Amino acid sequence: MRKTIVAGNWKMNASKESVNKLVLGILSGMGNVSSEVVVCAPFPYLSQVEALITHSQIKLGAQNLNLNMSGAFTGEVSAKMIKDFGAQHVIVGHSERRSLYGETNIMVAEKVKAALDNDLIPLFCVGETLEQREAGETESVVDAQINTVVELVGIEAFLNIIVAYEPVWAIGTGVTASPEQAQAVHAFIRQLLANKDNGVAQQTPILYGGSMNATNANELIACADIDGGLIGGASLKPEDFLQICRVG
Ligand code: PGA
Repeated sequence: MRKTIVAGNWKMNASKESVNKLVLGILSGMGNVSSEVVVCAPFPYLSQVEALITHSQIKLGAQNLNLNMSGAFTGEVSAKMIKDFGAQHVIVGHSERRSLYGETNIMVAEKVKAALDNDLIPLFCVGETLEQREAGETESVVDAQINTVVELVGIEAFLNIIVAYEPVWAIGTGVTASPEQAQAVHAFIRQLLANKDNGVAQQTPILYGGSMNATNANELIACADIDGGLIGGASLKPEDFLQICRVG
């Protein structure tokens, strides 16, 4: 039985004051949450969140990493640094990084490897654009995204990877994939993994992301192969985020 995981992706939305309010708000409602809860903060706020969530069940994540360990990479942040602030997770290959910062499948795979090599759990994002969906390419796009990672790190590594299926057309648009649309791709991803190793596939959490909110989370997470959510907009509102966390 896979546990439900709900991860908040705050993206580039934070201030010292808003982070304080948001985290204290989430903490105050965690009493009846059984899902695993992760909050992925922008780099400058990792330390603040680390302090706020001490002794709580909330886990900390970052939103990106550089694949090198240290050195002359001005402006970049390594897995080791992220770990230094108590983070256990890192988002890798989010569609915003793929489309705005040119991250290719192989770059994403190398970042997944850098995270794993440093004992960080990658929240590894895949998903198709609207154009690709309309051209009937959803499965081939997701297949290539996943297989590039499998080829680099091996299927066994997926025991320490969380996959997030995020159809690009659903991210930040208010248009959610229907439970049927999402479940179909989740089942496809699980089958892809199962073709390599069924035992691993059955244990790998596959989260849905893309306009998941307090209203639609229930029916999405109820689907057989949807093991939780990666939440953008709704993760900035403590009450909405907690409602999603309570679904599990
Ligand atoms: P959204 O973002 O929930 O605002 O659509 C999800 C994500 O980008 O991870």
